[in-house]
Parts: sequence; C-alpha cells; structure tokens
Amino acid sequence: MVVSLTYRDRTEDVRGGRGEAEKMPAIVVIGAQWGDEGKGKVTDLLGGRVDYVVRYSGGNNAGHTVITPDGQKYALHLLPSGALSPTATIVIGNGVVIDPKVITEEITELGRRGIDVSSLRISANAHLIMPYHGALDKVTERYLGSSRIGTTGRGIGPAYEDKVARRAIRLQDLFHRERFAAKLGEVLDYHNFVLKQYFNARPVDFQKTLDQTLALAERFRPMVGDVPRLLFEAGERGENLLFEGAQGTLLDVDHGTYPYVTSSNCVAGAAAAGSGVGPQALHYVLGITKAYTTRVGEGPFPTEQDNPVGRRLGERGREFGTVTGRPRRCGWFDAVLVRQTVRTSGINGLALTKLDILDGFDELKVCVGYRLDGGEIDYLPAGEGAQGRVAPIYETIEGWHDSTAGARSWAELPAQAVKYVRRIEELVGCPVALLSTSPEREDTILVQNPFEA
Ligand code: IMP
Repeated sequence: MVVSLTYRDRTEDVRGGRGEAEKMPAIVVIGAQWGDEGKGKVTDLLGGRVDYVVRYSGGNNAGHTVITPDGQKYALHLLPSGALSPTATIVIGNGVVIDPKVITEEITELGRRGIDVSSLRISANAHLIMPYHGALDKVTERYLGSSRIGTTGRGIGPAYEDKVARRAIRLQDLFHRERFAAKLGEVLDYHNFVLKQYFNARPVDFQKTLDQTLALAERFRPMVGDVPRLLFEAGERGENLLFEGAQGTLLDVDHGTYPYVTSSNCVAGAAAAGSGVGPQALHYVLGITKAYTTRVGEGPFPTEQDNPVGRRLGERGREFGTVTGRPRRCGWFDAVLVRQTVRTSGINGLALTKLDILDGFDELKVCVGYRLDGGEIDYLPAGEGAQGRVAPIYETIEGWHDSTAGARSWAELPAQAVKYVRRIEELVGCPVALLSTSPEREDTILVQNPFEA
C-alpha cells in the first residue's frame, strides 16, 4: 500500500534536482458501529507516534475514556484523546460544534491535573453550541415522546441545524463583540419564539448569554486560528496526522440508521470536510469495533439481546454511556453492519476491542445475514421501515473459558478466541490491525501500525 500523500518535493528546492518526496502520513480513526467502540484508547495509543491529533465532527455528545500507564483515568468530551500525548499538537476542526462552557471546563480540568493543552488549536470556523441549543434539544425530545431519538441532550442537533440554516454563531464571531451581539440577538429572537410559542418552555436570556459566553471566550481566544493552513503546513513539513472520529459510522446522518442518528457525518470522509485537508491526504482508515455490539439511544439494533446474554455483556463490559450514564443496549457482533461500514468508510484495518468481555461464554453468535419479508439479504436495507424489520441470521461459534484479558500477543490467546477473530476478519472482509484486551494502553496486540501500512 502507498504510505502517504506526496507533497512538494523540497529537495528539489534545496539542491535543484529531484529527490525523496516529502510525505504526510495521515490516518483516520473512526467507530465502525454505533459509537463507544474504544476510539479513545486507540487514539491515545497511537498518539505517541503522531504530531497532530485532529477532531473533525460531533461535539460533547462524544465521550472518550482514556486510562494512561500510571493508572490515571481521563474522560474527554471535546478535546481529542491525543490531549494526553505530550508530543502531539491537538486540533479541533471546523466540523466540530463547540460548547464554550464545556471546552473551558475541559482545558481547566486537564490543567489542574498537570496536562498542558496550550498547544490546542481550534478552527475559527467551528460553530458554537449555545444554551438555547441544549434547551431545544431537551424540549424536542420530550415533545417527541415515544418517537424520541434518545439524544444526549447536549444541544448537538440544534447546533448543526443552525449551521445548515446559516444563522449560527461561529467561534470567530466571539472576538467581534458587536457582530456577536447582533447575531445572538437575531438567533435568540427566533429560538425564543419557538421555545415560548411552540414548546411552551422558558426563553433564554440575551444579556446573560452574551456576558457569560464572552467571558468564557477569553480562556481559549489564543487557541483559535486557521486550521486548514496549520494542517497544510504540517503536511509540508512531512509531519504525522491522526484524525479522530466521533460517534460511529452507523450514527452518521446520511449513512446511519436515520432518523436514529447524530446530526453530523461520522464516516471517514468527513475528516477532510471537517478539518480542511484534501481527501487524498487520508491514506489509512482504522475502524474501531467491539467484539460484540452496543448502542445508546433509540433505533434499530438487529442483534440486540434484551435478555441475560445482553445483561451479561453489559455488566462485564461496563456498558454505560460516558456522557449520559445511560445503560447501553448490548448484543452479538453483527458482521453485516461492520462489513457495510468498512465499505462506506473505506476501512483498511480493524481495531477489535473488548474481546475479553466474551471470555467464559460456551458459545458465541455472529450475525451473517438478515431475514426480511420472507427473503434473505446480506446487507442493511436502506429503508427506515425495513431496517427495523430485519431479523438476524446467526452463525454459532464455540466460545472459550480461559481469560484473554491483558493479552499482549497472539500466543497468549486461547485458540478459540483466535478463531473468533479470524472469522470476523473473513466475514467483514477486513484484517484486524490491532486487538485490545483491556482498557490499559499496554494491553494491546498491534498487528500492523497504521502509520507504517
Ligand atoms: P445526539 O448526537 O446527542 O443528537 O444523539 C443522537 C443519537 O446518537 C442518540 O442515539 C445518541 O445516544 C447517539 N450518540 C451521540 N453521541 C454518541 C456517542 O459518542 N456514543 C454513542 N452514541 C452516541
């Protein structure tokens, strides 16, 4: 495989002849299911090898838990997991929606724990999540009742709605007081009308919102800048980039289980639009998938086990949402879905996480196809109704009783566990590049380093 994008040949400038081309290895790390696959650990693990870790979509609906070698646990929501790598510059691209309060709290909390995030760079074009977005998110969900999406309630959807409607406030507006006040006045008139007249809810106060937001903005003002130029120049210097996805491909607003999705694109392609690099810069896509499946919120989930098996997976895997604390729905590995996300995101290698949670099952099931309306299919249908009607076709695989927890080499894995992994690779049509056997950074089997692929 070609390693990277070829940039301007700088040896030509220096010596007047052609030489070794400059390279910018850039990888994208994305969730290949419905989120919570363990992107935080994987990004953190690879973070030591990269110069830039870039977030490009979502907001503080994401939650990454990272445990460092000294046993410290960090929950990150807006900052990329690379924040914990002392050598990486962390970047938030234009595709991310930013709550000024949350980012300020995160910067302050990391600082309090001795983590220096002064290298953080945030795109001036990123859009803001404002207090009225949270209010709208919550009342909309209440209003929808049994048809609710099950959002995180953080105002993500309403913030993206404003972006697309071209009435949103961007980070750069905060540093032009009059422009900010004018935009806020207009957008608040609109949303307060909706809050009061449509939802019978309390309006959001203009002056309080203005003052509080401006005060918060001072904290991150020096970090706001031109991210596309920053990344282009990094590429010119041949530095490594890691693009860190949020949520999972099946929550993608276009390619996911719509309408039970988030409001941004989670597929790997979004890394380019959400940060301002060209698509050819992205040379390797690492798809993170659990060895089983989980989902938070409402929507179709063909292999869900709302029974003792699901509860066992949930308890062993400590499956509670990082953001909302809600118990996650759990089920068997769905090879049909992951094969689909391998295609929509162009995944080159899988990082398989939480294999140890399957220890001790006599037998395991893997979904290899669906029954739909009397027929059999090997893909997730596009239709909303059909997605809810598919019934999984399972293949049964013998389980293992020895522990895989903490394994750091293939030789430490029970033979059946290796067979399970190999079968997943076959069904999904993609090799496992990395296997994670506990939340600890070191408990990992690295088959192929994406930066050397
Ligand atoms: P929203 O992103 O808060 O609008 O929520 C929309 C859907 O995406 C809901 O089903 C959420 O539970 C789900 N969701 C959003 N962010 C995450 C995440 O980071 N992990 C898992 N599910 C998520």
